[in-house]
Amino acid sequence: MCGITAFTGQEPALPFLLQGLEKLEYRGYDSAGVSLVDPEGIITKKAKGKLEALKEELNKEMYLQQAGIGHTRWATHGIPSHLNSHPHINADNTISIVHNGIIENYQSIKEGLEMQEYTFHSQTDSEVIVHLLDYYYDGDMIKALKKVTSYLEGSYALCVTTLDEPDTIYVAKKESPMILGKTDTAAFCASDIPALIAYTKEIIALEDQQMAILKPGKIQVLDQEGNKVDVQPVFVPYDLEAAQKNGYETFMEKEIAEQPFVIKETLRSRIEDHILMPELDDLAMEDIHAIYMIACGTAYHASLYAQYLGREWLSIPIQCVPASEFRYGNYPVDEHSLCLFVSQSGETADTLAALKACKKKNAKTIAVCNVLDSSISRIADTTLYTCAGPEIAVASTKAYTTQLTLLACIMLKLAELAKVEVNGYDQLLHDVKALPETIESMLGMEEQMKEYASFLKEQHDAYFIGRQLDYVSVLEGALKLKEISYVHADAYYAGELKHGPIALIEEGTVVIALATQKDVASKTISNIEETIARGANVILIKAKGVHSDKIAHQIEIPDIHPYLACLPATILLQQFALWSAKEKGCNVDQPRNLAKSVTVE
Ligand code: F6R
Repeated sequence: MCGITAFTGQEPALPFLLQGLEKLEYRGYDSAGVSLVDPEGIITKKAKGKLEALKEELNKEMYLQQAGIGHTRWATHGIPSHLNSHPHINADNTISIVHNGIIENYQSIKEGLEMQEYTFHSQTDSEVIVHLLDYYYDGDMIKALKKVTSYLEGSYALCVTTLDEPDTIYVAKKESPMILGKTDTAAFCASDIPALIAYTKEIIALEDQQMAILKPGKIQVLDQEGNKVDVQPVFVPYDLEAAQKNGYETFMEKEIAEQPFVIKETLRSRIEDHILMPELDDLAMEDIHAIYMIACGTAYHASLYAQYLGREWLSIPIQCVPASEFRYGNYPVDEHSLCLFVSQSGETADTLAALKACKKKNAKTIAVCNVLDSSISRIADTTLYTCAGPEIAVASTKAYTTQLTLLACIMLKLAELAKVEVNGYDQLLHDVKALPETIESMLGMEEQMKEYASFLKEQHDAYFIGRQLDYVSVLEGALKLKEISYVHADAYYAGELKHGPIALIEEGTVVIALATQKDVASKTISNIEETIARGANVILIKAKGVHSDKIAHQIEIPDIHPYLACLPATILLQQFALWSAKEKGCNVDQPRNLAKSVTVE
C-alpha cells in the first residue's frame, strides 16, 4: 500500500516525482525515496518518515536528470527504515525499481538468488524484483520483465529504470493500481490520479498483467506476451484544486465541508418522481434468492445501512459481511445471489478478493465505488459511482455520506424492481433530494460539537450507543473518533448495555447517545438515564420531539425521514471526532498506523 511515481521527459523529472509523491502520501508515509537516471549512474536518495525528510536529502544537481522514479511507503514487509525504503537498486547500480504490492513468494525467490551470490540489503519483499531483473536482463528489459513477472506471486505495480536506456521507464502491473499519462514532451505514471492531474487530465489505467514503455511524449502499452495493445485515454473530470485543501487547515475539514456539494453531485440525474438507475434496469429481482453486502471499515458501515433498508423493504434474505471475513467464510453464493461491494478506493484487497470469489460462483455483482476505473469497478458486473471526488484524509467522511446517499437510492431501486411498495415513498424521495440542504445546516453546528469534543480532553474512553439505524451511526462515530484522536471508543446497541458494557460507566465517562429513530427513542432514553445514574456525561443527538430533562447536553437534527437521519447525525459525529483530535494535537489527515487504500490483506 505504497505510492509510486515515474517520469521521463525533456524537462527535469524531480518536480513531477515530488509533487506526485506529495499527493500520494495518503497511501503511506513511513518513508520516501527517488532514483534519477544520470548518464554517470543512477542517483538514489531515500529517507525514513515523510516526504519532507526526503526533500532535505536532495540537492540542486538532482534537478538536472530527465527521468526518474519515486516511492512513498507504507511498511508491509520490514520495519519503516532507510534500508527498507524504495527505490531498490541492483549491485552495480544500473537498474532501479519502485514497487507497490506484496510479493507472496519472495522468500523462495530470495533463497534462489542468494544461491546465485546476490546480496540483500533490506527485509522487504520488493528487493527480490530488482535482483531477479538483474539476473534475467540481457539488454532487453521487456524480455526480463516478462520472465520476472511470470515468477512473481501476489500483487505489483512496478516501475523500472535502467542506465542503458536513461530516457525510458518500464512499467508492469498486477492487482495494484497504475495510472499512466503524457504530454507532448513527457510521459509519466503513478499509483493514483491526483499525482497526474497537474500535468494531464487524459489518463490510462493499466490493466492487470499489462506492461508499458514510457518515453518522452510516448506511451506504449503491451500485453503479457509483449504484444502492442491499443488503448485510448479517458478524461478525468477532476481538477487539481479538488485534490488540494482549499484554504482549510486539514483535508478532513475540507472534505467534511464538501459534503453538501458531493451529495448533490451523487444525486445528479438520479431522482425525478422515482429513482433513475438505468444500470440496474435489467436486474431480474425474481431470480435473486439472497443478497450479500460486502465491504471493509467505514464502507462496511455504509453496507450495514443498506442492509437495514433492504430488510425493511425486500423479502429476500440479506446479509452484510466484512470482506476480510467473507472471503474465508462458507457463504452459499450462487447465480441467484446478488452481491454488492462498497469501496471508496475500489482497490481494497479484501473487498477485491471477495468480489473475485463471488464472480467465480456466477453471482450478480454490483460495486459502489468512488474512484473511476478502479480495480473493483472494472471487475464488477455493474458499478455505480459516488461522486465524492478525491478523498485525501485517511479517515473517510464525504465518501461515507455519499455511499449512504447512493445506497439509499439503490435500495429504493431494488424495491421498485421487486415490485414492493415502500411506505412513505414520496416523503422519502423528497427528503433524499433535500439532503444537500439538510447537511449544509448541520455544518453550522460545528461550534457546539467542538465544545462537546472538549469533554474528552482528560478522558481515555468514550462509549457510543444507539438502536436500529442509530446503531450504524454510532459504529461509524466510534470508528472515526478512535482512528483520528486515539481515544478508545466502543459502540453498543443501547439495549445491550445492561448485559455487560454498563460495568464500564463511572463518574465522568463520556457517552454519546443517538435517538433519531423515534419509534425506539423512549427505550434509548431509558438506557441513557441508566448511564447517567452511574455518573456518565452524556451527549445526546436526537430527532425533534425526543426529550429527557436528565440529559444536560442535547443537540437536535432537522426533521427528516428516520431512514435518512444517519446522514445529519454522521456530520455531527465527524465534527466531534475532528475536534477531539485537533484538541489533542493529533495529525487529523494522516493518523498513525493507517493508510488510505488498504491494497494488502
Ligand atoms: C475509515 C476508513 C476505512 C475504509 C476501509 C475501506 O475512516 O476510511 O475504514 O473505509 O479501509 O476502504 P475502501 O472504501 O477504499 O474500500
